[in-house]
Amino acid sequence: MCSIFAYKGYRDAAPLIVKALSRMEYRGYDSVGIATYDKTIMVKKGVGNVSYVNSRLNLDRLHGRVGIGHTRWATHGAVSDTNAHPHLSCNGTIAVVHNGIVENYATLRHKLASEGHVFSSDTDSEVIAHLLEDALTKPYSYDKMLGKLLNILNGSYSFVALINDGMLVGARYHEPLIIGLTNPSKDGNNNNGDDCIYADECFIASDVLAFIEYTDKAVFLADGESFLVNYADTKQRVMVKILDRDGNATNKEITQIAWEFADVDKGRFAHYTLKEIHEQSYTIDRAFNASSDRLRELINVLINADRIIVTGSGSSYHAALIAKHLFSKLCMLSCDAIVASEFIYSIDAYAYANNASKPLLIAISQSGETADVLNAVRIARGKNFKIASIVNAPLSTLARASDTYLSINAGPEIGVAATKSFTAQMALLYRISIEVAKDKGMSPPALDIGSSNLYVERILGAEAYISDVAESIKNVNSIYIIAKGIHHAIALEGALKLKELAYVHAEGIHAGELKHGPLALIDGKSIVIALNPMDDTYGEMLTSIHEAKARGACIIGVSDSRCSMYDFTLAIPRVDRLLYPLYEVIPLQLLAYHMALKRNCNPDYPRNIAKSVTVK
Ligand code: G6P
Repeated sequence: MCSIFAYKGYRDAAPLIVKALSRMEYRGYDSVGIATYDKTIMVKKGVGNVSYVNSRLNLDRLHGRVGIGHTRWATHGAVSDTNAHPHLSCNGTIAVVHNGIVENYATLRHKLASEGHVFSSDTDSEVIAHLLEDALTKPYSYDKMLGKLLNILNGSYSFVALINDGMLVGARYHEPLIIGLTNPSKDGNNNNGDDCIYADECFIASDVLAFIEYTDKAVFLADGESFLVNYADTKQRVMVKILDRDGNATNKEITQIAWEFADVDKGRFAHYTLKEIHEQSYTIDRAFNASSDRLRELINVLINADRIIVTGSGSSYHAALIAKHLFSKLCMLSCDAIVASEFIYSIDAYAYANNASKPLLIAISQSGETADVLNAVRIARGKNFKIASIVNAPLSTLARASDTYLSINAGPEIGVAATKSFTAQMALLYRISIEVAKDKGMSPPALDIGSSNLYVERILGAEAYISDVAESIKNVNSIYIIAKGIHHAIALEGALKLKELAYVHAEGIHAGELKHGPLALIDGKSIVIALNPMDDTYGEMLTSIHEAKARGACIIGVSDSRCSMYDFTLAIPRVDRLLYPLYEVIPLQLLAYHMALKRNCNPDYPRNIAKSVTVK
C-alpha cells in the first residue's frame, strides 16, 4: 500500500526521506513525493518510482531538518502528479501524507468546498489538509484540534501533517505508523506538565525497516492515538507528545526492536525475491524450532478450543490450507480454512460462534498488517473467538491484536511475492501439529527438519536448468498446475507465484477435476505442471497426466521419481514423505522468478500489487 515517512531532528530531512521511501517500495508505489520545511513548506512530487522521481525532480535536495514523504498506491483518483502526496491546504501552510481510505471524504469535501476550500486533487487524502487548515483558524490547542479532526474522519488512516511552523502532527487508525527515536528519554514534562518523550531525532514510518539503520527504539501507536512532534525548548532535542483517543497526553512504552530487521540488503543476488528463495536453506529450520514458551502457549490454546478456523490472504491463505491437512493428518484436529476477505460471509464462522463455547481463529500473515486478516480478527473477536496468530513481524498490529502469537522468524521479506515466509509458515505448522500430537498422547513421526538445508540446496542447485525450462515456455499464455491432497495447496501457491511474478495466467487444479471441465482447455499449446510425488496420490496423478498428455500438453513433472511422460522434470530429492510439500514449492518459485526475468517483469515489484495490502 502507500508508505509514509517523516523526520524531525538535526540532519537534512530530504535525503533521509528519499532513502526510507526506497526501502518501503515493496509496499507498492505509483507516485512519490516529499515536503520539507525551512522557513516555508516546499513540495516536490510526481509519477514513478522513488529513484526515477528523485532523478527527475531532485527530491533529496530540498532543504530543512523536518519533512514528510510518501509513496502512493492509488485507490481514489488516477495515478497523476497532482494526485501524488503530499497534499497542501489552500494557503499552503499544511502538507499532508496519508495511507488508508477516508470513507466519508465525499461528504467532507463537499462541505469544505461550500465553505470556500479549493481542492487540487481527486484524492480522499486531501480533505485532511483542508480540515487541519480549518481547525487551525479556531482558537484550539493542537491537542484539541487533533481530537476534533479524528472525530470527523471515518475509515482507516495513518497520516502525518507538516505545519508551517515546522511541527509534525499525525495519527493512526487501522493503518500502521511507528515512531522511531534516537537516544529517547522520558526525563520530564513539557511546559504544560504533560508526559513527553525527548529524543535527538524522530522518525515516523509505516514500517520499522525505514528507520532501523538509525535506531532500534520505537513507540508503537495504538489505533486512535495521535501525536505532536516539535523541537524541545533548547532546540537541541525533539519532543514527542502522544495523545490517547480522548486527546489526553499518554505515557507510552519505548520498545526495543530486534536488529535482524536491519538485514535488508540484496547481498550477491540480483533481486530480493531470489535472495529470499535462497534463504529457505535456513529459514525452514529456524521457523520449525520456534521458541518453546510461546509455542506452549499456542498449543494450550489449540487443545482447549472446541472449533478452529484458520485464515489468511494470498500465500498465507495457502498456508492455512496446509494447516487444515497437517492438523487432521498429524494430530487429528479438525479445522476449516477460510480466506480472510470471505470471513465476513462465512456461514461456518457464525455457526461456530453460536455452537462452540471456545472457538479459536488462527490468523496467518507474514506482515501482520493485511487489512482483510485484521478485519477477520475483529469480526471473530466480536463472536468470542480466541485469536492466535502466526506472523513474521512480532510487533505488527496482528500480533498485538492476538491472545497469543508465534513468529516464523524468517527475517524481513522485501520481494512482493511471498517465498521464504510461506515455507516458514508451513514449517511452523508442522511443528505445531507434532507438538499437539505429543500433547494428545499420540506418537507423532520424528521429522528430519535438520536436513532441510541440504535438500533446499539440492533444489537450488538445479536453478540453471529451471531457468532453461522458463526460457522454453516463456511465451505461454496459460499454465495449469495439477495436484492432489495437500499438494493442491502447493499448486495454488505455485500458480499465484506465476501470476504475481511473471504475469502468466496460471491455475492450481485438483487433478481429479481436470476431466470435469478444465480438460476442454488443454491442447498442443498447453503447459501442465504435475505435482507428482511418489506417495498415495501417485497412481491417480498418472491418470490425470495421461489425460493431459493425450491432448498434446507439454508436461512439467515436479517429482521425486522419473516418468517418461514428462517433457521436463523439476526434481525433488527423496525427502521425508510428510515434509515433501515444503520442498515441492521451491522449484515453482524459481520457475516463476526466471519466467519473470525472461518476460522482462521486475520480480521484486510486480505491477498493480503490493506486499502489504492494508486496505480492504
Ligand atoms: C499481498 C501480497 C501477497 C501476500 C498477501 C498476504 O496480497 O501480494 O503476496 O501473500 O498480501 O500477505 P500477508 O502479509 O498477510 O501474509
